[in-house]
Parts: sequence; C-alpha cells; structure tokens
Amino acid sequence: MRIMKKVFMGTMAIVMGALFTSCNKGNEKEIIRVSHNQAADHPTNIGLLAFEKYIEENLGDKYDVQIFPNELLGSQVNTVELTQTGAINFTVASNAILESFEDVYQIFNLPYLFTSPEHYHAVMDDKEIVDPIFKSTKKSGFEAVAWLDAGTRNFYTVKKPVLTPDDLKGLKIRVQQSASNIRMMQLFGGSATPMGFGEVYTALQQNVIDGAENNELAVTSNKHGEVAKYYSYNMHQMVPDIVIGNERFLSNLSPEERVIFDKGFQIISRVQRDAWGESVEKSIKQAKEEMNVQFFYPEVLPFQERVLPLHQEVMTSNPKLVPIYEKIQEVGKSMIGGKENE
Ligand code: GCU
Repeated sequence: MRIMKKVFMGTMAIVMGALFTSCNKGNEKEIIRVSHNQAADHPTNIGLLAFEKYIEENLGDKYDVQIFPNELLGSQVNTVELTQTGAINFTVASNAILESFEDVYQIFNLPYLFTSPEHYHAVMDDKEIVDPIFKSTKKSGFEAVAWLDAGTRNFYTVKKPVLTPDDLKGLKIRVQQSASNIRMMQLFGGSATPMGFGEVYTALQQNVIDGAENNELAVTSNKHGEVAKYYSYNMHQMVPDIVIGNERFLSNLSPEERVIFDKGFQIISRVQRDAWGESVEKSIKQAKEEMNVQFFYPEVLPFQERVLPLHQEVMTSNPKLVPIYEKIQEVGKSMIGGKENE
C-alpha cells in the first residue's frame, strides 16, 4: 500500500511538474501538452506519437511535444476545460461530450446517422461539412484540428447478451456524458448511467452497471472484456474522436509554423486511421481467444426503429442542424448511387 502510495505520489509529481513548468532549466523549449484517455498501444496514441515526431523534426528547437495517455491529466470533460483555458495545448475528446460545449456537435452523436463506415469517413473528410463545425468553438477557447476513427459503438454486457432492444429493459448501461446519449438509451429502453470512460471498468466489476457500449478496443485495450463477456453488434453509433487545440496557442503560431502544425494534424488522422482496422481485428481475436468474450450479430432493424425518432427530435430542437443533416444524407445517397452505377 505504502509502495503504491509512493508510486502514485511520484507519478503525480512528474505530471504536475511537467504541467506547470513550461521551461526546464537550460531548456528553453515550449512544452506542448497533449492529453488523451487511451492506452499506449491504442491507435490514437500511435497517431499522436507520429505528430510528436513530425513537429519535433521540424520545429524541435522551439517545441517539446509531450503526450499524456490514460487520462493522466484527467477525464475528457476535464481536459477539454484545461484546453479551453490553455493549461494544456491539445486533447482528444469524443464528439459525444463536445455537444455540451457547442451544440452543433449533436449532429455526429445521432444514432444510425451513417449507413456504413465508408459513409462516416466520407462525411468526416468533407471539409464543407466539418470545417464550420470545427471552427465553431473558437469563441469558447478551442478549435478542432482533426478527427479520429472510433469505429462503431455496440452494446456489451455482463450477465446476458443483448439480442433485441427488449433485452435492454431494466439494464443499467453506461453512456458517455451527453444529453443525446442519455436520450438514446431511454429510447432503446435501458437505463442510462453516464460516467467518464476511466470509471467504466470498476463500475462493471462492482455491478454498478450491467453493461456499456463502445467499439471493440474498449473490450481489450481497456480490459472491459475481463468482466463483460457478451458483445452484440447492434451498430448504433459511429462517433468520431476529435482532436482539439487551445485557440490562443493556435492563433499565436506564425503562418509558417501553422503550416507545419496543420501537416502534423493530418499525420495524426492518417496514422491513427491506418492503425485502426488492424487494431480492431487483433482486438476481436484477443477478446475471443484470451478473454472468452462471445460476439453476437443481432438483427439491427429493431434497434434502429427504437431510436430513429431522435433524429426528428434533435432537428426540431436544434434547427441549425437541418442543412448539415441533409448534406450528410446526400453524401450517403450519392455513395449508394455510385455503387449501383459501377
Ligand atoms: C471510445 C472513444 C473515446 C471515448 C470512449 C468513451 O473509446 O474513442 O474517445 O472517451 O469511447 O466511451 O468514453
């Protein structure tokens, strides 16, 4: 116990030291702090390490990029706030929680918004759609600079698999801290329990919740599969992760530096996305073979029917989303049309 305490105090001292000392003695470099909540082997960390390498290769005499994984600097909600104030420079936040900072982000939290991963990627890569959204938070102190793939979210549970929406009745399911996600869970018929990502493992283990919903990497990289053995592909959401940067830091960069940083942001996206597919495949294999997690493929339509009314609800309460929603539908239709015409 004493050793644990010492290790914890030591880690905290390092973190606090790194956070609040911008220049070490004899090292005049400006420290760029980047926070995220994933483990070191996660594609997000791999993408950010490539960013660190690129920035330091090109601007290394001025900047020292430091990546803090595993919620070391706090949960996503905390680190978005720290990015707003400039205490840290960048953080990776799920789109889910960004809607409480700027409600235009509600759009990408809609369940069954995208019809396929290709549709999801095409929309998120469409600058006409995402740029105005990404720049919309400048007044709140941050700007989105890149999006990252976070796969498809599905239910996973401790006691029995979810094969139909009725199986969710009476189950406490962890959701991300967002009004849209809480409402989605209500429509599915389960009981929404919002909490930060880092609390989910213990909550599953201590039966505070009966299940959660996420992509496959949560099962292995975050070890939720040690407790929750039933993973059901009901495919309800494709919620991107968004890299956000402190507005003051970004606007103080010289135009030449900004060009280099923009290239760095593209590198995060590319490297993260390249690593994603393989990581998911590995994760499924590991979950099956080492954790005895079972995977189920329920009929998706009954799940869709429960939550589609949310689209209309959100459009009515937040009408500025309507043109964005229509554009997203058009992209989807053109993709289906494109395939049919091949
Ligand atoms: C995914 C996502 C994270 C998010 C997490 C969650 O892992 O990539 O950004 O925090 O889900 O459910 O909270």
